Amino acid sequence: MKPFLDTADLVEIERWLKTGLLDGITTNPTILKSAGVTEPMKAWRQIVELIRKHTATSISLSVEVFSDSPEEMLKQAKAFVAELDYEGTTIKIPILGTDGTDRLAVIHELAKQEIAVNCTACITWLQAFAAAKAGAKYVSLLYRRIMGTGLDAEVEIRKTRQLLDQYKLPSEIIVGSIRKKYDVLKAYEAGAHIVTIPTKFLPELLMNRKSVETQKQFLKDAGVLNQ
Ligand code: E4P
Repeated sequence: MKPFLDTADLVEIERWLKTGLLDGITTNPTILKSAGVTEPMKAWRQIVELIRKHTATSISLSVEVFSDSPEEMLKQAKAFVAELDYEGTTIKIPILGTDGTDRLAVIHELAKQEIAVNCTACITWLQAFAAAKAGAKYVSLLYRRIMGTGLDAEVEIRKTRQLLDQYKLPSEIIVGSIRKKYDVLKAYEAGAHIVTIPTKFLPELLMNRKSVETQKQFLKDAGVLNQ
């Protein structure tokens, strides 16, 4: 059960890196835009600096290509890996282009070059399984976007996990597109290896009134808080 953070907000990234909780960070063009990023490479480098400052391991950092063309995707992927020069660099490739054709050959070529790929925008278990067969290190199933099509996200996650296990494929399932704290719990229960979580849900997930109440009682009995 590995938590990733789905953000490019440097303050939030540093805040959560300091807890030792994170196994990775995911970004995409929308996330970069909402964080006000105008120079993606600069933002990714700042994230890498924070990771190096606060963790001993090279946790995964997903950076997405900004192109629809397979050739350009390959070019950008290799350039990002070289420019970032960070072991945890993971290249996000969408399962399909805007014309609806698959990008499996791009994933396969990058995998052959030992570049870690996170195949994003998967809606069905079949897409995720195909990406895993092509060599993607991670396959991203998008929880709320799946639900939006009328499919059951938990069924898609469970079936993907079953196939990865059955065929002993080393890919890990990342579940993204989280809109509620319960999406996180349901995704893990359905078999996700990783959930990439928007920062606002982490305090909500950790919160429990009984823990607060217990701490109050301890401090009262210690004479630190008034009865
Ligand atoms: C994660 O890697 C995805 O890019 C992200 O969670 C997409 O989901 P959303 O755009 O539906 O929030």
